[in-house]
Amino acid sequence: MAVVISVANQKGGVGKTTLTMNLGYALADMGKRVLLVDIDPQFNLTFGLIGMKVLEYGDRNVGTLMTRESEIEESLVHIQENLDLVPSHLNLSAREIEIINAYNRERRLEKALLPVLPDYDYVLIDNPPSMGIFLVNSLTASDYVLIPLELSYFGVIGMQLMFNLMRMIREETNENLKLLGLVPNKFTKQTKVPKLRLKELKETYPDAPILTTIPKAIALEKAQSEGKSIFEFEPQNRAAKAFQKLAKEVVEIAEG
Ligand SMILES: Nc1ncnc2c1ncn2[C@@H]1O[C@H](COP(=O)(O)OP(=O)(O)O)[C@@H](O)[C@H]1O
Ligand SMILES: [Mg+2]
Repeated sequence: MAVVISVANQKGGVGKTTLTMNLGYALADMGKRVLLVDIDPQFNLTFGLIGMKVLEYGDRNVGTLMTRESEIEESLVHIQENLDLVPSHLNLSAREIEIINAYNRERRLEKALLPVLPDYDYVLIDNPPSMGIFLVNSLTASDYVLIPLELSYFGVIGMQLMFNLMRMIREETNENLKLLGLVPNKFTKQTKVPKLRLKELKETYPDAPILTTIPKAIALEKAQSEGKSIFEFEPQNRAAKAFQKLAKEVVEIAEG
């Protein structure tokens, strides 16, 4: 039975999509069966993985799944061994109103994923930065939240928003939601600031597990623009090693 993990942060540009994609590849390389779900109307993950082919999935994507116009089995795109994708689509944002007015609106994703959970070890959901019906569906369907963040002043204090949202979800729709951990991203040793912020992060949120730090690496950005994982683009890169280490850490926590 798959462990479902939401990669979330209400801040944009912190590395949600990069983390979802590369953690997915790292887990798949370890032999885990992984399903990636793109629930961001900006479909960056989908575009990164299948490019213009995104256009072919207008009637079978995460949005049509949630409105029950498609079934999960027909909405899966095979990426490589052990790695599948439920794509997002250009028309996802237009479906928001429809989903908001639908019965059981917070559980539409959870219910749609249920039939394939036995086929995977991990489901990783890439989320939009905004706090809306898509993020609520994702957190309601998840066992864990994984939070990438940048070690800036607002990056650190912004965690409070995420923790508030998680508390609300636990109270209303998913009492079992757990924090898998925080993943400091774009770490650089060039100034002392990130290290200082990391210390602050530990002091401000002493109960939050802080997982493997991902270094700032131009190769990650280049890989993304070519639609490749860091493992395909530059397997020897420090960031590739960091994602492998993170994958092991995630497996240890999730599988005990
Ligand atoms: N560790 C990193 N080093 C360098 N660039 C990064 C790193 N992580 C993410 N990026 C880049 O930062 C930008 C935002 O990342 P992205 O994953 O799209 O964030 P989000 O999904 O949270 O909006 C992208 O251009 C991405 O390539
Ligand atoms: Mg994104």
